[in-house]
Amino acid sequence: MKVTVLGAAGGIGQPLSMILKNNLPAGSSLSLYDVAPFTPGVAKDLSHIPTDVCVEGFTGDDLPKALEGTDVVVIPAGVARKPGMTRDDLFNINAGIIANLVKNVAKTAPKACICIITNPVNSTVPIAAEVLKAEGVYDKHRLFGVSCLDVIRSETFLGEELGVSKLDVTVPVIGGHSGTTILPLLSQVIGSEVIPQDRIEALTTRIQNAGTEVVEAKAGAGSATLSMATAGARFALKVVRGLMGEPGVTEYGYVEGDGKYTTFFAQRVRFGKDGWDKVYDFGKISDFEQKNLDSAIDILKGNIQKGVDFGKKWVAENK
Ligand SMILES: NC(=O)c1ccc[n+]([C@@H]2O[C@H](COP(=O)([O-])OP(=O)(O)OC[C@H]3O[C@@H](n4cnc5c(N)ncnc54)[C@H](O)[C@@H]3O)[C@@H](O)[C@H]2O)c1
Repeated sequence: MKVTVLGAAGGIGQPLSMILKNNLPAGSSLSLYDVAPFTPGVAKDLSHIPTDVCVEGFTGDDLPKALEGTDVVVIPAGVARKPGMTRDDLFNINAGIIANLVKNVAKTAPKACICIITNPVNSTVPIAAEVLKAEGVYDKHRLFGVSCLDVIRSETFLGEELGVSKLDVTVPVIGGHSGTTILPLLSQVIGSEVIPQDRIEALTTRIQNAGTEVVEAKAGAGSATLSMATAGARFALKVVRGLMGEPGVTEYGYVEGDGKYTTFFAQRVRFGKDGWDKVYDFGKISDFEQKNLDSAIDILKGNIQKGVDFGKKWVAENK
């Protein structure tokens, strides 16, 4: 397996690359690319860790070299949120970065699975789809928005609430990856029936605003990086396990599924040899969750349309 990280020298990119270096299957290779000129140095640093994963670092015009023969591309390239900014405020800068990087992936590694971390994920994933369509290589099974930071946060907060190991908690989080489009299904968590409704509502709000909690605590120095790197690596390593033929590997991801609610929707997906091969229905939800789902749909549709419109315009202007 070859995994390429685009934006590898950043706050997320570096720890993400380190987790991948330590956890990819033996014999894999890890390719790091970033516009930051010290990226080959990050690769050199990681190359001294004794695992059987070889690492190379690229910058500048070497993006095609970085992408050659890649099976999985993970993208945390872009700018991060500062206090007072919403994920949508990032749109204007990050949209163009994603479009350009994905065009390069389409040209050099058209069959790669692409995992997008760059926010706003609700819109950057539809942008990527438009660019891939214009290049004639779009396969919805190979394009993912990495929304599972919401899942790992939920596991932590629910583990604390229930007084059980966080490792034993499973929390479905569906919808999108921004504010009230993040829909944790706490009614489906084992043991949650003892949590009073006002706590359920407070926990839901905390999960939806957890990114802002970090942005404010870092006071201008960026957004979640270490927890995001953990979530991004968990996601990418599962994609790799699916590509390698391991059966039954699943995670929550933002993909173009069956379109029941919105074209792109975060849901549980199963990974296979050619990307995701199954999306799961989320089953019975509470009245509170249904109300939240109903009000999230229009917001999510708007975020998706914004991405589609940008993508189409960008494609027309960058033929
Ligand atoms: N999906 C999520 O849950 C989640 C969580 C946290 C942050 N994010 C997003 O991840 C992104 C990165 O966050 P960060 O904290 O690592 O930011 P950062 O500024 O520390 O790092 C971003 C890196 O991207 C690089 N970069 C910029 N343009 C590039 C390009 N065209 N090609 C290659 N590299 C490029 C920069 O040089 C930098 O090293 C942001 O968009 C942020 O909002 C997503």
